Amino acid sequence: MKSLCCWAAAAVVLVSTGCGGPPPKMQNEATRDVHSYAQPHRARTTHLELDLEVLFDRKVLRGWVTHQITRPDASAPLVLDTRDLTVSKAETAESREGPFTATKFQLGAKDPVLGAPLTVEVPSGATHVRVHYETSPQASGLQWLEPSQTAGKAKPYLYSQSQAIHARSWIPVQDSPGVRATYRARIRTPKDLLAVMSARSDFRLANPKEPLSGDYTFRLPQAIPAYLIALAVGDLEFRYLSTRNGVWAEPSVVEGAAREFEDTERMIQAAEKLYGPYTWGRYDILVLPPSFPYGGMENPLLTFATPTVIAGDRSLVSLIAHELAHSWSGNLVTNATWRDFWLNEGFTTYCERRIIEAIYGPERAAMEAVLGLQSLEKEMKDMPPADQILHIDLNGRDPDDGATLVPYEKGALFITHLEKAFGREKLDNFLYAYFHQFAFQSITTRAFRRFLEQTLLASDPAAAAKVPVEEWITKPGIPSSAPRPVSDAFVVVEQVATAWAKADAPQTKAKTKDWNTHQWLRFLNGLPEDITAGKMAALDRTFGFTKSGNSEILFEWLRMGIQAGYQPTAPKLEEFLVKVGRRKFVRPLFEALVKTPEGKQRAQAIFAKAKPGYHPITAATVEQILK
Ligand code: BES
Ligand code: ZN
Repeated sequence: MKSLCCWAAAAVVLVSTGCGGPPPKMQNEATRDVHSYAQPHRARTTHLELDLEVLFDRKVLRGWVTHQITRPDASAPLVLDTRDLTVSKAETAESREGPFTATKFQLGAKDPVLGAPLTVEVPSGATHVRVHYETSPQASGLQWLEPSQTAGKAKPYLYSQSQAIHARSWIPVQDSPGVRATYRARIRTPKDLLAVMSARSDFRLANPKEPLSGDYTFRLPQAIPAYLIALAVGDLEFRYLSTRNGVWAEPSVVEGAAREFEDTERMIQAAEKLYGPYTWGRYDILVLPPSFPYGGMENPLLTFATPTVIAGDRSLVSLIAHELAHSWSGNLVTNATWRDFWLNEGFTTYCERRIIEAIYGPERAAMEAVLGLQSLEKEMKDMPPADQILHIDLNGRDPDDGATLVPYEKGALFITHLEKAFGREKLDNFLYAYFHQFAFQSITTRAFRRFLEQTLLASDPAAAAKVPVEEWITKPGIPSSAPRPVSDAFVVVEQVATAWAKADAPQTKAKTKDWNTHQWLRFLNGLPEDITAGKMAALDRTFGFTKSGNSEILFEWLRMGIQAGYQPTAPKLEEFLVKVGRRKFVRPLFEALVKTPEGKQRAQAIFAKAKPGYHPITAATVEQILK
């Protein structure tokens, strides 16, 4: 039994901006969301109803959204976030059923990062606000794919990516993670396509042969922030993996995906054992086309995932553990603003490794922690100190700029430091109590710190003295007292890498016979930065990296190939960049290209080919690099 009662009681006094309790009276600098025009302390959405038509021929969504609101300030207008939306009409009503009557609205000036505020006048007594609108074909949160860009090549595809502030490009909404609402939706699509959302679907999973209607309804009874609202429409098929878990994908992809993700139910059970029951109902995974700009996105009930995790050997499924862990850290307990993003990603990265440890053993978790820290240290080398801070100041910047490895790996290392100082049992009790205490709330770094101080830190002052909490949260770099993850499985790898660094060492091949993906990744990043094309050729002859079917290994190899000017990777590089839109891969490859003498021209030529297939977020990233 977890002893959470005393800690939970201690935490009752803490302030947070949840949906359950009364909204905060005032907004101060620590809780204000600088990335939203909404004024939730005056008028706040508690429930949304969407009714949208998916128009593939024009690449727009058209319809309306109804906001059910509460108003601490009875005369306040409802201020919503928008980006590139065409608003045709606003209406209000005193109940869900109406009648809805027209009201005045005003779309403000467009800010390049934030979009434009939509201010709707709300007469006293009105509790429902309906906005009729249409999206732009360039909506930053949507990608419209031609049939040729899908696996099946026969039908079009649409998907959304709302985090961080892209929900506003397809729904006029209070697009702040501190505002939580339940939602319902009705989505109409061409008749031969299926729609899925981050919500309970009224579509009968049990009967995949049921003819499609092109008219789908959804509801999510749990209150979530707007960045977790998600939609995908395409030629989708479903496979059960357990009674509550399954996978959606295009028909030609679904079998491979089902095999790759077979361990998911065990992951859910491992997470539940650590953090409390999975309270969302189903946990499904949607495998997207390869242009999906992220590895994964933790949309509630329906993780969105890149197909590049399907390696054939489950070696990259920590991504699923990660998105699943967000069901607690992120979706249950949410960062109140984007400067608190490390609360989402740091806890999740820590929890991800605990799930991996439970299913695949401590060695694999240790390897992933070592690789994670190595990537962080590499990335931090060229990073301004201000960006190395967990509680980062993002005022005036795009919150997507804050999505570096710092909130992920430095955040996870901070939790690991707490674990080492207080012991695993106490840390586990703390996390369990944390998720329980703040469930369905959006919390700030300050609220987290108060909870930490009043519970874990207060319970053992000697242990607390070992963890420089202030430094971890507010200072750049990594504290010198931070733990260093190590992995025995990397010892031999480092030896072989060193041998190759000194001379060609094809005789080491026998030692690599049983290496797993993580060992290969460690091997590649253990080779010298200034490796020559000749050395790469020798490695390729011995190990065949250019033919690797593992996206992570291939990515590292291609990056090295650019730096070394190793020509045999050139066709693979172009093929990879034209097919895959995952920013984690695309960004470093273009960055490496523009650093080499003839690279910039080549980068421009590849981008010209790749751009039509890229998501707007990926395309914008590359344009930035090529500027
Ligand atoms: N929530 C993030 C994705 C995200 C972050 C989207 C910020 C938009 C803005 C997701 O959980 C994530 O972290 N994905 C990682 C994979 C993970 C295994 C580290 C990714 O996409 O690379
Ligand atoms: Zn994440």
